[in-house]
Amino acid sequence: MSSGVRGRGGRTTIRRFLEMKQEGQPIVAMTAYDVLFARLLQEAEVDLILVGDSLGQVVLGYDSTIPVTMDDMIHHARAVKRGAPDTFVVLDMPFMSYQASVEDALRNAGRALKETGVEAVKLEGGHERTCETITALVNAGIPVMGHIGLTPQSVHALGGYRVQGRGEADADRIRTEAAALQEAGAFSMVLELLPAPLAEEISKSLTVPTVGIGAGPGCDGQVLVLHDALGLNPGFKPKFLKRFAELHDVALEGVRTYAREVRARSYPDAEHSFEGD
Ligand code: KIV
Repeated sequence: MSSGVRGRGGRTTIRRFLEMKQEGQPIVAMTAYDVLFARLLQEAEVDLILVGDSLGQVVLGYDSTIPVTMDDMIHHARAVKRGAPDTFVVLDMPFMSYQASVEDALRNAGRALKETGVEAVKLEGGHERTCETITALVNAGIPVMGHIGLTPQSVHALGGYRVQGRGEADADRIRTEAAALQEAGAFSMVLELLPAPLAEEISKSLTVPTVGIGAGPGCDGQVLVLHDALGLNPGFKPKFLKRFAELHDVALEGVRTYAREVRARSYPDAEHSFEGD
């Protein structure tokens, strides 16, 4: 792993994430939902894998994260942890797994750690009630990553997937939430879809690291949805997204070549067939 000191099992620890911030070393985070991509991210030495509830759109075909269940998250986080046993993995707590009561949050986050082996959970929101929940989880020994700015589980309340923190009042709300999350005990927080100057100001004001997505270069780390960053989801082109590969095109060409060869009876050929006795 590029980031130096490791915890037991070789993975980065929450203490190490703090040190990385102090040293000005960016945290590299990416989502994964299955064993193959988790293995690939571990091989690429990313610092943190997020089993995001973006699972809902990216893998399960829903049009938001709202239908995703705790069982869905556990199923996929187990696969990710099997592929990346030596990487710090965060499980995204799905909609309504922590909002109704602190007891729900404790029971579900406890399940996440016990049944999947992930190192931490992530919760969306920075208002008082969420912060109380985060403190209860941290007191129970469960590391928590916060998530403010655009919080996709609240897409209907926010009126769509749009940049947050524009205008002084909304910027102030985000500043207050960031400080409250740190105070509540979050070891890090995602800043999603924020103006770059606001995200940078917030990152500088905190001791815990921020991990940005669509929040500019001033965050302490960056996270991207793997399928978007590798060009597996070609229709999705938000301004902040850079495609680091074009896997859709490569995969499509591969499948088309396979289909052509099967139809032409040129695959399987002798090289790919077994001889008799
Ligand atoms: O669900 C997810 O993938 C996320 C990232 C976009 C941060 O929450």
